Amino acid sequence: MGNPLLDAFGRPVRDLRISITDRCNFRCVYCMPKTVFGRDYPFMPRAELLSFEEVTRITRLFAARGVKKLRLTGGEPLLRHGVEKLIEQLATIPDLEITLTTNGSLLAQKAAVLAAAGLQRVTVSLDALADATFKRMNDADYPVAKVLEGIEAAAAAGMRPVKVNCVVKRGSNDDQIVPLARHFRGTPHILRYIEYMDVGSSNDWKLDEVVPSAEVLRRIGDEFPLEPIDPNYPGEVAERWRYRDGAGEIGVISSVTQAFCDSCTRIRLSTEGKLYTCLFASTGHDLRHLLRAGADDAALDAAITALWQTRTDRYSQIRMGATPALKKIEMSYIGG
Ligand code: GTP
Ligand code: 5AD
Ligand code: SF4
Ligand code: SF4
Repeated sequence: MGNPLLDAFGRPVRDLRISITDRCNFRCVYCMPKTVFGRDYPFMPRAELLSFEEVTRITRLFAARGVKKLRLTGGEPLLRHGVEKLIEQLATIPDLEITLTTNGSLLAQKAAVLAAAGLQRVTVSLDALADATFKRMNDADYPVAKVLEGIEAAAAAGMRPVKVNCVVKRGSNDDQIVPLARHFRGTPHILRYIEYMDVGSSNDWKLDEVVPSAEVLRRIGDEFPLEPIDPNYPGEVAERWRYRDGAGEIGVISSVTQAFCDSCTRIRLSTEGKLYTCLFASTGHDLRHLLRAGADDAALDAAITALWQTRTDRYSQIRMGATPALKKIEMSYIGG
């Protein structure tokens, strides 16, 4: 082990994203609309989930193959019982940054414990500053103030900078673009605007509901002049911009209008232990079966290696001519 692992296009594997629960206490309209994820939705039974030991073992193998950053996702990852225990185990793996994406609802109460367990950074989703709009977006009657409290608690616990993700959906929350920018200007938090994506099949995605990043930048820039800045690292998903008056930076994630597959170094592990080499893949590769059949580390490593080496995914670059008929997996299942 120890050789850098490259896919069919020469892309290394650097980011591992692990979904640790398929459940969420929000029903965001672009992700888990209530019409689909209602009262009777069959979430996964507990025995199907990878255990903390299984998650840690797989992560360790990926770290040996060059993964530098782990992101825990969901559903809502803070709903997984004992998540801080998992983080403690993961934190024993050397040279690995541990991050997590959350809706913020449990962050105020958990931030200190998570940071103490070894969580280094968090990304918090927040789609509006106006309560009525935010409640329409999360469809769970959840107020903005609680999420803001979570963001402050995370920063106070040392998980900095906090990144704040806003998915922009035209006609739903695009009037919140400038108010959000105004709110986070002058704070150390980094607000990022995400183009609404055609991920999954339940959100009834339409192209005209996408607000291109160029428009987001124009709307903000009209009020607060912006200038581009260099990426933090090659292949960074967000394009960075800073306020000319020194009030900090924002980011835009343009996976619809400006695909970034060429530098995509991400692999995803679902809650039940399937590996997906693309956010838009329709099938996963079952590692849990191998794990539970008693495979040793060499056999698991061989499976991971074979999968990555034959990877040719670049969905976002070909989406317009692609295969709309294929069933896509849901964001809440695979994680963001
Ligand atoms: P950091 O730079 O470490 O903060 O991580 P990141 O930029 O990867 O951030 P994050 O995980 O929060 O990603 C933000 C959003 O970008 C996700 O929620 C997705 O909507 C989108 N995104 C992330 N990775 C991919 C990807 O591989 N493909 C596509 N199409 N979209 C992605
Ligand atoms: N398009 C873009 N981003 C999405 N997310 C969920 N669904 C979508 C979508 N359809 C993002 C959320 C959050 C992360 C979990 O995934 O905003 O940041
Ligand atoms: Fe839950 Fe996040 Fe999906 Fe919203 S975007 S429903 S908070 S998993
Ligand atoms: Fe990577 Fe697939 Fe997203 Fe392209 S569409 S950036 S290959 S996850």
